[in-house]
Parts: sequence; structure tokens; C-alpha cells
Amino acid sequence: MCEYKPLSTIALSHYLTIELTPMQDTFGRTVDYLRISVTEACNFRCIYCAPNGHSTPSGSPLSVEDIQRVVRAAVALGITKIRLTGGEPLLRRDIVKIVRAISSIDGVQDLALTTNAFLLGRLARELADAGLRRVNISLDTLQRDRFTHIVGVDAFDAVWAGIREAEAVGFAPLKINVVAMRGINDDEFTNFARLTLDHPWHVRFIELMPVGSTNVAQEFFDQHFISAAELIARLPELAKSDSPQGSGPARTYRLPEAQATIGFITPASEHFCNACNRLRVTAQGAICACLFGDRGEDMRGALCEGISEIKLQELLARAIDSKPEQHPFGDGFKITSVDAMSKIGG
Ligand code: 5AD
Ligand code: SF4
Repeated sequence: MCEYKPLSTIALSHYLTIELTPMQDTFGRTVDYLRISVTEACNFRCIYCAPNGHSTPSGSPLSVEDIQRVVRAAVALGITKIRLTGGEPLLRRDIVKIVRAISSIDGVQDLALTTNAFLLGRLARELADAGLRRVNISLDTLQRDRFTHIVGVDAFDAVWAGIREAEAVGFAPLKINVVAMRGINDDEFTNFARLTLDHPWHVRFIELMPVGSTNVAQEFFDQHFISAAELIARLPELAKSDSPQGSGPARTYRLPEAQATIGFITPASEHFCNACNRLRVTAQGAICACLFGDRGEDMRGALCEGISEIKLQELLARAIDSKPEQHPFGDGFKITSVDAMSKIGG
């Protein structure tokens, strides 16, 4: 029996023409990238995401079969790149099955996963065997005690082992995502950059974003935001570089003699909306056209009711068509549709 709650509000009608691949939105951007959050659950409580723990998920996440149906429909619309996110995607007991279900679909050219790496040491090999090709790993400090402070769990060694195992099984390009925070990890930027001298790990600094509508989120952002421009100024030896595969909006540099690149992702200081090629699906099955927009149309009820593939394509196509031109800046720069990134996929 279907355990999702069907939504009566879904209007499947009037989308009469489906454009053939690749699909463009109304601003001429080709949308070829789908990020799927497979769970809202997470075993960390990062200070910028869930300092007081995660709220209880509002329902069960999409099943393997439904994720596979969504990806099939997306591929029919010209989407070729898939990323699994969360929450922490490796907490799904069936994550290997999910990877296998997606990698077996013809037309999926790039399958990646974003993880905090706590369980990666155990799972990397199986994931690679199931068809996963690359991972992005979140790591905001190289200091064990500070790590515990930032993520709320004493897990530095496990995460480090996860990174080593990811390299050992051949995930490439391997990327380390660092959320840049003034007063928290800004004394480590040089050490992070220097990682690229010793390892083939691409390091990407991500500007902090205010997530949630509470004052706490805004205060944390106001206190700890540091711009990519400031980071770049602090790393004077950087030279411009080509980007590794799947770098999306990152601006990419390199240290002399380095094995990998250093990227900067700047949602706050410099928008990359004009190059936005993505659609998101939340763990609960809502389609999200813009990280800064509303939660978007729900597919879960429709999936439950056995929606046809063509209708599923219509839902996705309509979401692509609804992508706004850009997200707000200044006072409006805030993600308010969710109370944490774990709900929508980082
Ligand atoms: N600001 C920037 N990035 C965030 N992430 C989660 N919350 C935020 C935030 N407030 C991203 C980070 C993290 C991943 C899981 O989600 O990249 O590494
Ligand atoms: Fe940290 Fe990501 Fe988990 Fe949020 S979802 S607590 S950012 S690891």
C-alpha cells in the first residue's frame, strides 16, 4: 500500500506541449541537472544548519522506485546529471539500491552524491560498484576539536577515513566543500588551500547563506558571513584555472604545483542565476525550481496514484518553466521555504 498522502491539489492538466531535449526555461537556460534529496535525516547538527538538532521529517521520503521514475522522466526532458543530497544521503539504508536504480537508466551521464562522509568509509566501495562516480564531501575544519564543535558529533576520524576511502575507490573528481565562516574557520583557509598541494582533492569554499526565517539564522549569518572576495584576497598565490567536471557555478583557481583546484561558490555576493541549470526534488517529493523560491509542486501524491510517465514529465517541465530569472539580494537574500538546508538538499 502506498504510504504517501495523495495531494488533491495537484493539477495535471493543461501542459499540452512537452519540449524535446534539451529543455530550456523561459530565460533560455538549459536545464540538465537534477538534485534529489533522498532523506531529511542527518547524523550531524552543523551550527549553520541544525544547531539544535533536526526537526522530525514530515513524512517518509520517496521510495527507490519513485526516485527511479522521477529520474526517468527527467532524463526524457534532457536532464543528464543527477546528484543525490540530503540530509545525509548515506543514512538511507537503501542508498546503494538508489544509486543502482539511477545508474542503470540510459541517459544518466553523471551521477554524484553530496555527503558528510561519516559513513563513506564503509559504503564507498559498494556505491562505486553500484555506479556512483563521484562525491562532494562537506568538511569545514581540519581540526578535530573544532570539527566536533561545528558538527555536534565527534566524527573527525571517521570523516577523514571516508575521504581516504573515496579516493581509494576512485571517485573523481573528489571535491571538499568548506562553508566559510568568519570567526569559526577563517584561520584555516590557507591550510585548506594547501590540501590541494598534497592531494588530488578539489577544495571549494561556499559562502554562508541565511536559511530559515528565524532571527537566529539571520544573526548567525550576519556574524559569520565572509565573502569569497575576501577569501581570495587572503590567498594571494591563486591563479585562475579551468574547472573540474561538474563545477557548476564555482569560480576556479589553482595554487602553483597543486594537484587540484580551489573554487568559490558565491550565492550571497555574486549571483550565478544566469547560469542556473538545475531543478531540485525534496525528500518528500516536492519539485523546487529555485533554492530561494517556494517549496514547489508536490509529486508525491501523484506518484502514489500511479501517475503516468508523460504526466510526470509535464510536472517537471512546468517546474522548469517556472524558474525565476534570479534570486533576491540584500534584504531579500534568505532561504525561507525551509528551516534548514537538510530539508531541501544542500
Ligand atoms: N550556508 C551555506 N551552505 C550550507 N549548506 C548547508 N547549510 C548551509 C548554509 N546555511 C551546505 C554546505 C554543506 C552542505 C551539506 O550543505 O555545503 O556542506
Ligand atoms: Fe550538516 Fe549537512 Fe547534516 Fe545539515 S544536513 S547538519 S549541513 S551535514
